[in-house]
Amino acid sequence: MTARLIDGDAISRRIREELAVRVRRLRARSGVVPGLAVLLAGDDPASHVYVRNKQRACARAGISSVRYDLPATVTTAELVELIGNLNHRDDVHGILVQLPLPPQVQVRRVLEAIDMGKDVDGFHPANVGGVVVGEPLFPPCTPSGVLELLAHEDIEVAGRNVVVVGASNIVGKPLSLMLVNHDATVSICHAKTRDLAQFTRLADILVVAAGVPGLVTADMVREGAVVIDVGINREPGSRRIVGDVDFEGVRRKASYLTPVPGGVGPMTVTMLLQNTVTAAERSHS
Ligand code: GUN
Repeated sequence: MTARLIDGDAISRRIREELAVRVRRLRARSGVVPGLAVLLAGDDPASHVYVRNKQRACARAGISSVRYDLPATVTTAELVELIGNLNHRDDVHGILVQLPLPPQVQVRRVLEAIDMGKDVDGFHPANVGGVVVGEPLFPPCTPSGVLELLAHEDIEVAGRNVVVVGASNIVGKPLSLMLVNHDATVSICHAKTRDLAQFTRLADILVVAAGVPGLVTADMVREGAVVIDVGINREPGSRRIVGDVDFEGVRRKASYLTPVPGGVGPMTVTMLLQNTVTAAERSHS
């Protein structure tokens, strides 16, 4: 079997075109331009690339974005104060704090400072609680991007065995809960899981979000499984971006596979744009 590749770039393009229509409509009806504030602290090279991509995508969709570059020495109090000011601004509908933050910063306090109605990343603890009960004000971007890809390919999740590899707060944990809310049977594996392959081989749908290049190889995948690769890793010694899945091997065994780049990555950005447009619409309805 050769897997059908799920084209996240093409699916993103279609959703972004629909978002651009919503942005134009909002502007025509109420003169409002959706606005996103992006806070970037320190000089993590990957974070700079992600933020540049997000801002470029905003501009193309007609969303105004303002970036706040903060030094690696920034304090929790300084971030909380800046967020407090942004919470009160009518022209800022979404606030995104790029993670990771420098080690001296208390991440939880920073995320809690964001007005829930502007929490377009879905990282505020109250929004995380919303995910648990199946009604988040804003669904977190990467998990909702994964669900969009599956829905777009008409891949049913209800009643299927889904194995999520990776238990991060950003992807693995919220995605697992969202899948349960869609009636999937979900197993969450992580770095301490013994005999990972024993679990992955049971998966009808395997989602890999571990941040370990090439972690999942063909022998760990059931013939005909759907494999979603959330990993974005720079291959050691080269500039090539690779996922967590051995692409060539798994491609010969899976029924569907997301490429890296061009799979989940663009969907994360698209879901951020979607949440920002929704935030702007809500604030003026
Ligand atoms: N760091 C890695 N992924 C993300 C993301 O989706 N949002 C933010 N804010 N930071 C991240």
